[in-house]
Formats: sequence, structure tokens, C-alpha cells
Amino acid sequence: MPNRNKNLINTQKPAKTEEKAKLWGGRFSESTDAFVEAFTASIQFDQRLYKHDIAGSKAHAQMLNKVGILTSEEMQDIHQGLDEIQTDIEAGKIEWSIALEDIHMNIEARLTDKIGITGKKLHTGRSRNDQIATDIRLWLREQIDTISLELNRLQSGLLEVAEREFDTILPGFTHLQVAQPITFGHHMLAWYEMLVRDFERLQDCQKRVNIMPLGSAALAGTPYPIDRDYTAELLGFDRPCNNSLDGVSDRDFAIEFISAASLLMMHLSRFSEELVLWTSAQFNFIELPDRFCTGSSIMPQKKNPDVPELIRGKTGRVYGDLFALLTLMKSQPLAYNKDNQEDKEPLFDTVDTLLGSLRAFADMMPHVQTNKDKMRAAAMQGFSTATDLADYLVGKDMPFRDAHEVVGSAVAYGVKTKKDLSEMTLEELQQFSSVIDQDVFEVLTLEGSVAARDHLGGTAPKQVLARVKAAKENP
Ligand code: ARG
Repeated sequence: MPNRNKNLINTQKPAKTEEKAKLWGGRFSESTDAFVEAFTASIQFDQRLYKHDIAGSKAHAQMLNKVGILTSEEMQDIHQGLDEIQTDIEAGKIEWSIALEDIHMNIEARLTDKIGITGKKLHTGRSRNDQIATDIRLWLREQIDTISLELNRLQSGLLEVAEREFDTILPGFTHLQVAQPITFGHHMLAWYEMLVRDFERLQDCQKRVNIMPLGSAALAGTPYPIDRDYTAELLGFDRPCNNSLDGVSDRDFAIEFISAASLLMMHLSRFSEELVLWTSAQFNFIELPDRFCTGSSIMPQKKNPDVPELIRGKTGRVYGDLFALLTLMKSQPLAYNKDNQEDKEPLFDTVDTLLGSLRAFADMMPHVQTNKDKMRAAAMQGFSTATDLADYLVGKDMPFRDAHEVVGSAVAYGVKTKKDLSEMTLEELQQFSSVIDQDVFEVLTLEGSVAARDHLGGTAPKQVLARVKAAKENP
């Protein structure tokens, strides 16, 4: 977890640098109102970007040296100073200052305290506008990689359960009414396929995240002979952005990421809802390990599926973050506006929420236990093989519509007599059609029903194993 709150915020005693002046104080005749200072500061949350800010600064200094703006000695001093600052931050030795507003000026001021006048040369040919746009992209790129790994872990867990439960039968539902028998493995694989698309969306989004705004400077570029390709290469970006106004202003990459995250959370919330239903006494299809559940302080018998419930709830936060960023960008004129400072908290919140939810799911899924008897009994209850009887009649040359009608009557009889189709005698079944024969019982069993759906994408146990194998070979 990031050490967001590890370092104290100093609102009282100004550090050495602030006593002198703001880094931008030249044209001002009075000092900033204390409330305004705190209100406009972002260090409370953008301190989280310290590592990426330092990496960006080091690459920038190296580029300035390459094009002859900094001497090698100056560059080395800057690098060493920044490395020391990073060590201090990680050791919790830095007191962030509200007066220094944001992560960029907090670090730069400390650098100058450490190495003197050379520290002041670092900001040559750049602005905080391209600096922050670069920092967020570097940070988000790393987060997308971490999220992708967690997502893969959950996918592997689902494949594991699918393989283990490849022929376990449960009722499949439409309208939450028993529809047709399916295999538990097939159900797990439905979730797996959704996650495949989520993974692809994240990788695709990464292509547009990994473009470098640095060099856009404040908005128009800079008169210094900078080498943006070189900086991009140093930072592992695919390329520098093509337009400086666009580079400092747009946050569409973050919105795109939160959109992909929203879809992923939507999927997790659907999984969660099913787990909540399935663990209820009414369904009783599965057991979640105790360590993923909590009890009630008043009702001693309760074991609540808090983890899936919470993930279902957290989905709302991520949708909220998406709307916050869409609304933030709406109607903003070019180029950078202070509004953009508000991009960070929703973005951080989405990453934290998504990572936590994926982690909980990936830890939990491989340990889900199935109650096979309960699922089987539920599949027996709702005439789940009625379609199989209709298909059987079609096989005996009856038009499908007529077969539908015949089976409808048989089901009505079953409701009245409280019998599943497979529990009726041949004579009882023959009341509805004379073409029904002894072989009907092969299709009326749950096993017969699932085994018959033996084609790509069907629920047959054979197909489940085939998909698991293919997914493992080519994830
Ligand atoms: N803290 C600012 C942000 O998060 C950094 C850029 C500030 N630029 C400026 N011109 N005020 O967007």
C-alpha cells in the first residue's frame, strides 16, 4: 500500500525554503491567504506520486544534460539529491508542506535546500503542467500492470474451480426462474470470459496511457532545444505526445481507465450478487470460507457474505469516480486549468477500490465449496429438462411449436401431481404424446441434458474441460 499518510503535513512551521518566498512568488505583493493556501494545495494527496515525480525529474535532467543545458556534474548533483530525497520520503523523514502546495514544489524546494543553486536549474524547459500530466501517466501505467496481475490471478482461480466442478450440475436461470440444467464449471467460465474482455480493455487503455506529455511545458512547448524522444525512451514511454496543448490538458486516458474499471467492477458486482444469493439458506448452493465472512452482533446463527456484498457496494464508488472525471473535463477550455488537480483523488480511489476488490475475489474464489446435492435438487425442481423433452419430440418428427405445447401440458400435470418429468412413468408421459418411448428417460435426466449440449460454448462437461485446457494454454 502507498504511504499516503505516512508523512506529516506541516501547516504551522514553514520549512527553510518557504520562509524565503513561494517558488512562483516574484510577481506577488502580498502573501497567500492562509485558507486559500490550504484550499488550493494538493500535497495532501499528490504526495502519492513522489516516486514518479522523481523519476520524471531525473529523466528530464538527463535530457537537459544531453542537449547541453546542464553539465554532467550538475546532472549528477541533481540525481544524487533526488535519490536522497526519495530515501528520506520512504524513511518517513519528510514533512510535507502545504505552503509548498504540491509534490513538485515540495521536492524541488528540498532539492535546492540540499544541493543549492543547481537545484533551481532543474525546472528549465518544463512546467508543473507537463510534469503532473507525466507523473499521473507513469503512476497509472504501473497501477494497470498491478491490476492486470490481480485480474489474472482471479482468472486462474476461476479456471481451477471450473476444472474441479466440470460436471457438477446446478439449475441455470433466466428471470431468476429455473431454466435448464447447466454445469458449475460452465457457470465459472462465463465469469472467466467477462474477465478476458476486462483484461483486454485494460491492455488497450495502457497504449494511450503510455504517451509522454513532458516537453509540452506550460502549454506551448519551450524555446530550449529539448529532445523529447530521448526523455520518452528514458521513461519507457512509447512516444512523446504530438501536441503540447493536448498534452497538458486532456485526462481522457484516466477517464478511459476508469471506464474499463467501471465495467470490471460491474462484472465483480454481478459475481458478488450470485455469491450472496447462493450462500443464502434459500439457495444454499455454496459455502464461502469462514475467513471471508463475518457474524452478526445480535443474531448468533448468522454468517454474512460481507466480502461480496462490500464489493457490490464499492462498484458505486467507481461509477462515481467516472462521473467525477467526465464532469471535470466537460467544457474545459484549452489548455491546463486548475480544475485538473481534481483528477487525482477519484483516480486513486478507483485504483484502490479495484485492487482491493480483485484481491479479495482472487483469494476467495478457489476456496468456494459447492453443495452438490442442494444444487442437484434445485435443478430437479423447476422442470429444467422440459426443453429436452421438446427437443426429443422434435427428434421424433414433431414440429417444435407442437412439441412446446405437448411439454406445456406435461409440466402442468407435473405441477398438479408434484412430479418432475423424469419422475413420471412412461404411461403418464404417453398421455401427452404417443411418440414418447422408453428412450425418453435418457434425455430427461440432468446428466443427459447437460451432456447433450456438446458444442463450442455449450454447457456439456466435455466442453468445460476443453475450454479450461485452451484457456490455460493460451490465456
Ligand atoms: N497540483 C497541480 C495539479 O495537480 C500541478 C500543476 C499545477 N500547475 C499550475 N499551473 N498551477 O494539477
